[in-house]
Amino acid sequence: AIDLTGRHFLKELDFTSEEFLGLVSLAAELKAAKKAGAEVQRLRGKNIALIFEKTSTRTRCAFEVAAADQGASTTYLDPSGSQMGHKESVKDTARVLGRMFDGIEYRGDSQQAVEELAEYGGVPVFNGLTDDWHPTQMLADVLTMTEHGTGGLAGTAFAYLGDARFNMGNSYLITGALLGLDVRIVAPEAYWPGEAVVARAKELAAASGATITLTADVAEGVRGADFVATDVWVSMGEPKEVWAERIAALAPYAVTMDVLRATGRPDVKFLHCLPAFHDLGTQVGRDVHARYGLSELEVTDEVFESSHSVVFDQAENRMHTIKAVLVATLAGA
Ligand code: CP
Ligand code: NVA
Repeated sequence: AIDLTGRHFLKELDFTSEEFLGLVSLAAELKAAKKAGAEVQRLRGKNIALIFEKTSTRTRCAFEVAAADQGASTTYLDPSGSQMGHKESVKDTARVLGRMFDGIEYRGDSQQAVEELAEYGGVPVFNGLTDDWHPTQMLADVLTMTEHGTGGLAGTAFAYLGDARFNMGNSYLITGALLGLDVRIVAPEAYWPGEAVVARAKELAAASGATITLTADVAEGVRGADFVATDVWVSMGEPKEVWAERIAALAPYAVTMDVLRATGRPDVKFLHCLPAFHDLGTQVGRDVHARYGLSELEVTDEVFESSHSVVFDQAENRMHTIKAVLVATLAGA
């Protein structure tokens, strides 16, 4: 069994592929135990701080429910609810929270902040999303792939379409490379992950047997894919001004039924970390509609609502996988 006691989870590369897959297996066990009403609490008496400098539905709720299921308690600090970054440095905040809590989750733009919390907190620190990485999301996505894939994870092909310069694109490329998958980044070249990430992915692929493809050609990129994934075209923290340029560049990369057909796989599955822009159910959506006349962006409503879509399994799996991280790092696996 893997022992991750006391470890941080700041980015996918903090774990070997065995450790990463060990967490996914643990999550599957915890999920089965909860569904059978047989969950054993291993985090009683533990306290976990949840720092959110950006908003969240899934990640926050996943940490809170996972902790509660396991008997731990959580304290939620919203952007206005703590001194960190305003009146107190990350370093000082880390040393204070480390005296009170057994683990600290951080979501914000800065990867440097989560690294600093880990350096000075003295307790396990978890990245709940930064501009660079979304590692807990990757555990959920891999669990979802194991549940919906045909055959083992090893031969799995997945294509990510859209803005790949940011957390989701970086994380998919590195995770696919780490685990030996056939990973395709499908986007205009200007939207590919940065050179350092691509170079690291190539090194990992050489060791894992992964295949890495970066292409601007949708048909080539999705051919044979078991999974097609995308993310919002404008991420949290980006200014409104980028919408026009993003829509112009990424419109050909929207996940439509034609894109799913181009995989040649009738059973292809669609992944999205959510939130998604596929209808006018949001204020952002209505604003974009008013300005650009579009009512769906990175994915069509037809795909989102189709039987190909496993996005709500993926969302549920955030909770089971985050629970695995908490159990493995705070109680030993
Ligand atoms: N996928 C994800 O991280 O969702 P939230 O922003 O709602 O946490
Ligand atoms: N790229 C998105 C992911 C949201 C879970 C963002 O950073 O807003």
